[in-house]
Amino acid sequence: MPTMFRDGLLKGKRILVSGGGTGLGREMAEDYLRLGAEVYICGRRKNVLDDTAKELMAKHGGSVKTHSVDIRVAAAVDDMISAIWADGGPLTGLVNNAAGNFISPTKDLTPKGFDAIAGIVFHGSFYMTHACGRRWIEDGVKGSVISILTTWVWNGGPFTVPSAMSKAGVNIMTKSLAAEWGPYGIRLNAIAPGPFPTKGAWERLSPGQSTDGDTSRDGIPMGRVGEMDELKNLATFLMSDGCDYLTGQCIAIDGAGFNASGGNFSRLSKLSEEEWDNMREMIRSANDKDKAQRSV
Ligand code: HXC
Repeated sequence: MPTMFRDGLLKGKRILVSGGGTGLGREMAEDYLRLGAEVYICGRRKNVLDDTAKELMAKHGGSVKTHSVDIRVAAAVDDMISAIWADGGPLTGLVNNAAGNFISPTKDLTPKGFDAIAGIVFHGSFYMTHACGRRWIEDGVKGSVISILTTWVWNGGPFTVPSAMSKAGVNIMTKSLAAEWGPYGIRLNAIAPGPFPTKGAWERLSPGQSTDGDTSRDGIPMGRVGEMDELKNLATFLMSDGCDYLTGQCIAIDGAGFNASGGNFSRLSKLSEEEWDNMREMIRSANDKDKAQRSV
């Protein structure tokens, strides 16, 4: 795919990507670094973050710094943001990418399962945005926030209800704060990706299927999943100068999957209890592997 942006486009920008050690977050962080931004990534697994930072800097030079944090903890978020400000001045951009999700019949969720997802997506995205936004207002910085959502913020997410509810809340945060913080020049936008296969998401949303499995293409008029470069280009566009008047929007990038077939998991109503038991086991074992690596 051709490079859309000139070298140095993001020079002078300082951008934090939550969940930047893996998946979509890592991809966006790489593009920001490649185009000249100073990058910070945070997550719960310090070793994963440090490996990513090392690999990205070896490839592109520049600076990627890491913070291990659980964004469900407001005080930990504020401490991290304060440390970043102290490290080299205000951030100019924040990407709320970190998420938690797994498919499950809603009747089988426990309150703790709901809270695990809502804590990361709903509360965590707010804590991050609030910690940056209040400092931007105080410092007179025209910061920019991008939140990674999904198209089910518009039509609901059967079998992913905690995620759908939480991301719908973040969509409304985006619109509310675009209006409230517009007078300060602060922008908030969101991206609603269709399927862009990553290990973390696929282990929890399509367990047992490889990330290039065919089923994710069902119902997508373009007949394919997204390419990372396409997502990165949109995330870079939204973060760059030149679209200062663009705020409060959630942009789908999904090959028209949402328009054609809803883009959610309603097809899972065909699964038997036994199939759900198998799925649950696969998801739990992926969760346990990740958890063993956590440092916070
Ligand atoms: C039912 C489940 C479950 C499952 C976990 N739980 N897996 N319940 N079915 N398959 C329940 C547990 O039983 C427990 O409740 C509760 O959830 C908390 O589980 P923990 O593992 O202790 O939680 P925690 O360590 O906090 O982990 C949070 C997590 C985990 C959300 C459960 O998956 C995680 O950390 N995920 C981060 C990465 C991620 O999810 N990436 C995918 C994002 S994709 P009880 O009561 O039993 O103790 C995305 C949208 C993509 O966001 C859209 C694409 C179109």
